[in-house]
Amino acid sequence: MDKLVIEGGHTLRGTLPISGSKNTALALMAAGLLGDGPTTLENIPNLRDINTFARVIGVTGAEVAFDPVEHVLTVDPTTLEYPEAPYELVKRMRASFYMLGALLGRVGEARVSLPGGCAWGPRPVDLHLRGMEAFGASVALDQGYVVARAPGGRLPGGVFRLEPSSVGATINLVLATVTARGGSRIENAAIEPDVVVFCDALRAMGARIDGVGTRTLEIEGVSSLRPVTFRNASDRIELGTFMIAAALAGAPGETVRLSHADPGHLGEAFTEAFLRTGAGFQPGPDFVEVVAPEEIRPVSIETAVYPGFPTDLQAQWTVLMTQASGNSKIIDNVYFDRFKHIPELRRMGVNAIVIGNEVVIEGKIPIQGAQVMSTDLRASVSLVLAGLVAEGETHVLRIYHLDRGYENLENKLAAAGIPIRRERYDEFADPVLEHPHDA
Ligand code: UD1
Repeated sequence: MDKLVIEGGHTLRGTLPISGSKNTALALMAAGLLGDGPTTLENIPNLRDINTFARVIGVTGAEVAFDPVEHVLTVDPTTLEYPEAPYELVKRMRASFYMLGALLGRVGEARVSLPGGCAWGPRPVDLHLRGMEAFGASVALDQGYVVARAPGGRLPGGVFRLEPSSVGATINLVLATVTARGGSRIENAAIEPDVVVFCDALRAMGARIDGVGTRTLEIEGVSSLRPVTFRNASDRIELGTFMIAAALAGAPGETVRLSHADPGHLGEAFTEAFLRTGAGFQPGPDFVEVVAPEEIRPVSIETAVYPGFPTDLQAQWTVLMTQASGNSKIIDNVYFDRFKHIPELRRMGVNAIVIGNEVVIEGKIPIQGAQVMSTDLRASVSLVLAGLVAEGETHVLRIYHLDRGYENLENKLAAAGIPIRRERYDEFADPVLEHPHDA
């Protein structure tokens, strides 16, 4: 397995480029399955999740070609023959469940494995299933698989209200209904930039979707969609992560530039909280400039759906708050138990405690380098952030989680002055003791 080794205490400076959005790219790839020919997607990051989803699509007989250097991915659904998504791949990445909507929309039937739980707890798909039924699909469970069918090959359409609002369910339901026979309305739809960009792509393909970016989506089914060339958005979570890195490890008063960014996708809550820490934040059309503060002020946050504070930046914010001049509190209202990073951070000296869905963090705590374990994508990057300000070396193990969602993380940080390297290690090797007891 691979680990990242970070030498703490160095200054982050210069420019870090932001890659294409992972979460938006996955939705766009699913949209590509609905076109009448090959759809070309630009600015697709070279990540494990993208490659996993390319394999999921490949199982159906549709073709995916990915140029990871040019970041261009083509989805050609014209050869699609087998409307299914197997457990072995869906269990690796929950977004594979988009195949349910995409296949219903494309061929009117789907056999898709139910995803299991995830590292930080149960993540249900009940809204996806109830929504499909509300739009006229028959949905049955068969040995761990969801088997869904549209009567006569195309869904009739209908009305469904999402409670709570869900990014994934909105995307899945839009995929299933843009080619329906009739009209559909999705109430309390997600308005995250990922959903908006995905709907923009479908509209470019000829889909009729009204209300994009609002809580009510009105969809009028069309009989076919044309293939397009479409540019993916920049990754807002990577941008937020690097903003936090710059505030933590930048030199006070010195600008760190984050290029190829979509600052408008950060959402008000995050930018407001960021400014309240005392950090400088200057957005440009496609970049963001950040200036680390002399002293980080404590800022308590609560996660919420967009434009609220993203749950995907909560773990990183925790690390920023360990260096603040006072105590703070973080509440995750989206995922109540997404705190697997806390015990690992505590091994680095952080004083944070979890009570229910809240974390209380003591500020101004010196962090020590240690061997720590990644448990999920955002938790792992929070450990890397802690490593930036730790005393000594931090070894972040099991970084396959990081490789799911951060493209070239170590190269980007290294180019910005951080001593960081990837090393192979044997997870089951016996420890090498410095003072063997049996000597
Ligand atoms: C997406 C993102 C993920 C992010 C999350 C919240 C992708 C690939 N993943 O995940 O990075 O953390 O949005 O911003 O884009 N819920 C239900 N029933 C359902 C579906 C969801 O109760 O059928 C609940 C969830 O438990 C959660 C809330 O709805 O509490 C929001 O989850 P959702 O927006 O669906 O997250 P994902 O789309 O899975």
